[in-house]
Amino acid sequence: MKFFLDTANLDEIRQGMSFGVIDGITTNPTLIAKEKRPFRDHILDICNLVKDGEVSAEVVSTDTEGILREAREIATWHPNVIVKIPTIPDGVRALSILSKEQIRVNMTLVFSAPQALIVAKAGAYFVSPFIGRLDDIGADGLTLLSEIMDIYRAYDYPTQVLAASLRHPLHVVSAARMGAHIGTMPYKIFEQLFKHPLTDRGLEGFLKDWEKARETLGDVFQSAGARKPKR
Ligand code: E4P
Repeated sequence: MKFFLDTANLDEIRQGMSFGVIDGITTNPTLIAKEKRPFRDHILDICNLVKDGEVSAEVVSTDTEGILREAREIATWHPNVIVKIPTIPDGVRALSILSKEQIRVNMTLVFSAPQALIVAKAGAYFVSPFIGRLDDIGADGLTLLSEIMDIYRAYDYPTQVLAASLRHPLHVVSAARMGAHIGTMPYKIFEQLFKHPLTDRGLEGFLKDWEKARETLGDVFQSAGARKPKR
């Protein structure tokens, strides 16, 4: 499973990249607006930070002509930029044209299996079902994800499923168990993936016990050069 960070914040992206397991970034107009910088410059800065990773940048037009104009422009910014388009009728019309031009498109704001089926037929590169936002209205985001995985497998669609709007580590685990190609998550959810109170408590105990027995353990790490003796 690929891990993407759902953020436009450069500090979070830098931090995330330092763990060596982040494969790409998704942004949306809300996340970009928070950073208060020119859109193109900011996306290019993100591309430079994530090196080979794919970076989604979203159009803001809602008519087919406008979407096409913005998408073709965004696609020229960087070889790793993926154009993000909302799953509205004009967005689907634009997708059908752009996929024939080999422009890679992430179809976003997907909330139903029929929407996912349509965008796969129209040639989407990524489909982004929003899991958490469905849970927010009392529906079941993970059921939608499982339906999409079944449909795509049945027909061998090449569209990659990007599980979006993930709100907690269990969403990530469930998406991984279903075989979603990518999970995109805010930085704080990514951090929660490797934090566990029992790990912290266990380590605290190990170090306390080590300290108590220190005299008898020998100076292994010091002699290996970790701590140089003062002269
Ligand atoms: C995905 O690409 C979206 O930017 C994102 O996952 C939306 O998540 P939210 O529901 O937490 O805003």
